[in-house]
Amino acid sequence: MTDQLRLRRPDDWHLHLRDGAALRAVLPFTALRFARAIVMPNLAPPITTTALALAYRERILAALPPGASFQPLMTLYLTDHTSSAEIERAHASGAIFGCKLYPAGATTHAEAGVTDVGRLGPALAAMTALDLPLLVHGELTDGEVDVFEREARFIDRVLAPLAERWPGLRIVFEHVTTRAAVEFVRAARRGIAATVTPQHLLHNRNALFAGGLHPHLYCLPVLKTEADRRALLEALACGDARFFLGTDSAPHARAAKESACGCAGIFSAHAGIELYAEIFEAEGILPRLQGFASEYGADFYRLPRNQDEITLLREPWSPPASYPFGDGQLVPLRAGEAIAWRLLGAPA
Ligand code: NCD
Ligand code: ZN
Repeated sequence: MTDQLRLRRPDDWHLHLRDGAALRAVLPFTALRFARAIVMPNLAPPITTTALALAYRERILAALPPGASFQPLMTLYLTDHTSSAEIERAHASGAIFGCKLYPAGATTHAEAGVTDVGRLGPALAAMTALDLPLLVHGELTDGEVDVFEREARFIDRVLAPLAERWPGLRIVFEHVTTRAAVEFVRAARRGIAATVTPQHLLHNRNALFAGGLHPHLYCLPVLKTEADRRALLEALACGDARFFLGTDSAPHARAAKESACGCAGIFSAHAGIELYAEIFEAEGILPRLQGFASEYGADFYRLPRNQDEITLLREPWSPPASYPFGDGQLVPLRAGEAIAWRLLGAPA
């Protein structure tokens, strides 16, 4: 058995960093592990313009711990009114690497999202011309649709027609959770990829209700069935380069999670590579980890692969019950329970 694993430094292709004190609380975890991250634009108000994205980027850089070398890759939040001129500005900035489609109301701060993808014509035409990827929260928000069916219905009704209508547009189907999504990506035309979170690889929906309700395992898209989880693992086991790492680490204060109407989002940046190492090892596919975590995403985004390395040790450790988070607390994934791999150089 390997007790030490050297890995090309990974990148996180789907991350929520928030702003202000929350940003300062969570950013060091990511910067210690990952060289780069695609930073989600769902702040309140959302990052809908290049000017807002560049200012947010400066705040992230200012919040970095001394000596950290971490590159935030910014994204633009699409609305019904995003213009082609805005897309051109985003591309010209050199700091924006994708545009995010939140169906209106799909998730945290998605109120200003897109009500009908038919309205995105000017934006999608410009993105296709400039080869700026579309990043998709793939859930149908129609209140009639069963919460566990939202991803599958989104594929049929929105994503498949969109991919066909815009054959040159590169698309990342974010945080895929179902067998239907895996099958869609594997059968899709060129230029379509997906990110996969640790929680959807670790847990099925039973975990939400095991012995009582677990708000810290509530995220969107919600956890799915065991068959769905197996389908995600099978895609990674083949070393399919269309699937790469995106933690979707989404911090919310403990009080907002442990509430009569709790927020969706799981914080995992504190163990953002360690949890994947554990999963890949449990599946007997540890040799596949480097492609998934450190290579396929960079290749998709047409960025150079990182040249430095991190070292993971097979040395169990337990995250604390909570981390400080501004005025509140942040309960991390696996709080108080063992994680099999540890990052060399991470504070104990
Ligand atoms: C994310 C958040 O809190 O910003 N929540 C989540 O459950 N993943 C939003 C999102 O990515 O859906
Ligand atoms: Zn997300």
